[in-house]
Amino acid sequence: MVKKAELHVHLEGTATPALVRKMAAQNGAPLDPKTFKSDGEFAWTDFWDFLRCYDKAAATILTKDDYRLVTYDYLARCAQEEAIYVEMFSSPDHAADVGMSYVEHLGGIAAGIDDAKKEFGIVGRIIVTCVRHFGPERALNVAQQFVATPHPYVVGFGMGGDEAQFHPKDFAPAFNLASEAGYKTTNHAGEFGGPESIRASLENLPVSRLGHGVRAIEDSALMTELADRGIPLELSPGSNIATGLYKDRRAHPFKALMEAGCIVTLNSDDPPYFATSIGHEYDEAARNYRLSDTDLENITRNAIRAAFCDDALKEELL
Ligand code: ADE
Ligand code: ZN
Repeated sequence: MVKKAELHVHLEGTATPALVRKMAAQNGAPLDPKTFKSDGEFAWTDFWDFLRCYDKAAATILTKDDYRLVTYDYLARCAQEEAIYVEMFSSPDHAADVGMSYVEHLGGIAAGIDDAKKEFGIVGRIIVTCVRHFGPERALNVAQQFVATPHPYVVGFGMGGDEAQFHPKDFAPAFNLASEAGYKTTNHAGEFGGPESIRASLENLPVSRLGHGVRAIEDSALMTELADRGIPLELSPGSNIATGLYKDRRAHPFKALMEAGCIVTLNSDDPPYFATSIGHEYDEAARNYRLSDTDLENITRNAIRAAFCDDALKEELL
């Protein structure tokens, strides 16, 4: 089986419906029954409703040990699919919303990474993220805690959330703080925003990768720029199809971006919401884009080269 690496997955978005129900029951956390469909899967109708469902499910992760378990559970599933490296987005804002400190939240995730490494050999790292629709003030607060609390597993800073809210320049203080402290950064752009949203990110934020960036396909000059500058794209075809951006795998521009010379990677984003996994993304890409094992191995190498971890670890993984 081809070894895999993942750069774009939201830790709070990896918790399965079963795990969310278990944590809610253990913690006595109120859980809106409308969070689930009758088949037990997460219930949401469009991207914005997905974000609401995600917030409700994330609110069941209440303790440091819950974060350990969510992290361990996800990395165990990845290891079964022959993933060797996973960079996970953590959201201190979601932890703070249930009363958990930055340090507790981070400690839980780090413990999950340690347990998974011991048991399966898989390597996990953390990208601390802010949430765009929570606004620039909260983002700066996350960045301040991020730079004040270095941890060997925390390798970068990023932002997810609703790309239609605010402007990238509003988040420049947060991103610049992270960048000036020596961290690499990534931002969700070109998912529900078009090429202009990608350009705005590149012009206003010190990003070295793009979360999604898929809609660069709509602007050939931008595609060329991304290829020439070697800015890796954290592509997530299953996510884009589930949220209605593209009709199916064949309609997704993964292959076209790859053929245009962009550095492409494969990612699951929020696997239980989008009925996917890192293994499924690799399998579907192989089938729909006619990729050989060598092509898939190159995608894994792209991800490891684009990872935010240190060079010694990359050497070990490559
Ligand atoms: N947060 C979790 N998943 C996300 C996605 N696909 N886009 C933006 N923000 C997110
Ligand atoms: Zn994402």
